[in-house]
Amino acid sequence: MDLYEYQARDLFEKYEVPVLAGIVADTPEEARAAAEKLGGVVVVKAQVKTGGRGKAGGVKVAKTPDEAFAAAEAILGLDIKGHVVKRVMVAAGARIEKEFYFSVLLDRANRSYLSLCSVEGGMEIEQLAVEKPEALARVEVDPLQGIDAQKAVEIARAANFPEDLVEKVAAVFVKLYDVYTGEGATLVEVNPLIQDADGNIIALDGKVTLDDNASEVRHPEHEALEDKDAADPLEAKAKASGLNYVKLDGQVGIIGNGAGLVMSTLDVVAYAGEKHGGVKPANFLDIGGGASATVMAAGLDVILGDEQVKSVFVNVFGGITSCVAVAEGIVKALEILGDAATKPLVVRLDGNQVEEGRAILAAANNPLVTLAAGMDEGADKAAELANA
Ligand SMILES: Nc1ncnc2c1ncn2[C@@H]1O[C@H](COP(=O)(O)OP(=O)(O)O)[C@@H](O)[C@H]1O
Ligand SMILES: [Mg+2]
Repeated sequence: MDLYEYQARDLFEKYEVPVLAGIVADTPEEARAAAEKLGGVVVVKAQVKTGGRGKAGGVKVAKTPDEAFAAAEAILGLDIKGHVVKRVMVAAGARIEKEFYFSVLLDRANRSYLSLCSVEGGMEIEQLAVEKPEALARVEVDPLQGIDAQKAVEIARAANFPEDLVEKVAAVFVKLYDVYTGEGATLVEVNPLIQDADGNIIALDGKVTLDDNASEVRHPEHEALEDKDAADPLEAKAKASGLNYVKLDGQVGIIGNGAGLVMSTLDVVAYAGEKHGGVKPANFLDIGGGASATVMAAGLDVILGDEQVKSVFVNVFGGITSCVAVAEGIVKALEILGDAATKPLVVRLDGNQVEEGRAILAAANNPLVTLAAGMDEGADKAAELANA
């Protein structure tokens, strides 16, 4: 889960990373009140889960509460790279002397952690990495050792911080690493980390990605950080039923068992769709092993709730789960859904007890269900029905 900047700021504060005061506001009136409370120059900042807000007009300086009102009015509702701004943070204004960059992240490829650091902050890191790769230090961090005072100094030196700043920024790196491990994050990024006119080091913009697996077990409190409004309603529904579902932008609903089979089903349907008006898979849904009627019903319910879906392709290979259980699951699921099930279903079964499974579906004789002999045939039929 990615956090909003204001949530990252709050976590930073909890771990004693130096941050500036910030108050969230959902309306221009609230922004004015926040500016009054903070006093002095403030910065009104769009809260959206994407970078480059500054360039997109989502970060504005306000010298008075009335200016904060006007800034919030301009920013709220703004579309930044497809994210509509619903909330701003009114932050105390910093007098920036220098902008730096620091991050620590999970380096999956190397089964390690990686810290990126630069004395040239502010600009987007992807751009810096391309235009000035020599200005970006990459320091591997051993997960068992972490970033202690010594490692933090090593990172600061690798990034060419002036010697008088090394100890000062290193102390902040250690605290940011505490956020990273303490919260079970896969990314903690500060851009910019600044030195202000008084020589203070301050995290001015934070991006934190929490590891959902860590959240589930070790950090139940993270659930409160989730933005339920922003989540796709179908994905939220699937999550509530414990389904592995990802919404895509197509017309053929997909249900399969096993992530690998579902992935290849998406490919086969996309390929078949080229011959049928360019229809595409509508989702990824892996119902896993033991496809019971309830799981099948929950999966179908989510998929049929997607207005774009015109047909559904159920592609199941019976392994430990027999095709009998899957076929019974489909029949019962259609019973459970009743009138809610209105879209044609193409079913391909194979593997363990396939004949018995097909016989069950044939006997049920539901007009919505078409049996397919193989995966390609099923994909083709489902695409054809979606294009009808
Ligand atoms: N509280 C603040 N005080 C002064 N300037 C700020 C403040 N917050 C951000 N800025 C300036 O705005 C720029 C962009 O803001 P930032 O929070 O990094 O958003 P983004 O990375 O999405 O563009 C920063 O690089 C900094 O120069
Ligand atoms: Mg930034």
